[in-house]
Amino acid sequence: MMMPDAVPVLTIDGPSGSGKGTVARAAAERLGWHILDSGAIYRAVGHAAGAAGIDFGDAAAVARLARGIRLEFRDPGDGGDTRVIVDGVDATDAIRTETAGAAASAIAAWPEVRKALVDKQLAFRQPPGLVADGRDMGTVIFPHAPFKVFLTASPGERAERRYKQLKAKGLDVTLVSLLHEIEVRDARDASRTVAPLRPASDAVVIDTTGRTIAAVVDAVLALVHQA
Ligand code: DC
Repeated sequence: MMMPDAVPVLTIDGPSGSGKGTVARAAAERLGWHILDSGAIYRAVGHAAGAAGIDFGDAAAVARLARGIRLEFRDPGDGGDTRVIVDGVDATDAIRTETAGAAASAIAAWPEVRKALVDKQLAFRQPPGLVADGRDMGTVIFPHAPFKVFLTASPGERAERRYKQLKAKGLDVTLVSLLHEIEVRDARDASRTVAPLRPASDAVVIDTTGRTIAAVVDAVLALVHQA
């Protein structure tokens, strides 16, 4: 059996709306590798903290919740979205709302909360390989990953992508409010003292503005295949 350290990891980091979730899923499928959606973990904790009435400013209480939370990721088997089960309850839709995203971003700023979630993320590194999607996959969680990508896109294009995604789900949102939320969330994610959003020094930065998903996936897979 392959040792965990020998299992290859492709890290895909970037801000929300950079296309990393879609690109990570497509790359994992083409490679036949596992996928870690680390944002879903932070969203699940934010959602659970909100549901439990925990103050997001109470780092110790949120970290306690993060240590104890039971998370399961289930492939529905019909090509649909991975189901996210939080403490036995299907929270797939609940964690995708903008409220859960804002909660995730708030609780993710606490070092003790991030620390509480490290082992849960490392456990995803299973043969034959892992595609890890997030903000600090290449910098903090898998610093020795052989393949690292950082995706960017202009704030306007990212807001438009989120708008289409959320509208398709029937949610009532406006482009202006999304652009504002994206700018606020980016500023917070990039300025926090622990694991701020930034490319690893050895990451390949790809600007996805105006590029199709397929073209970006090909560029990402070329990195793995040329190794
Ligand atoms: O990728 P996403 O939008 O689902 O992530 C939601 C929030 O979780 C994001 O605003 C910041 C936080 N997050 C993080 O701090 N570190 C990660 N590896 C992934 C997400």
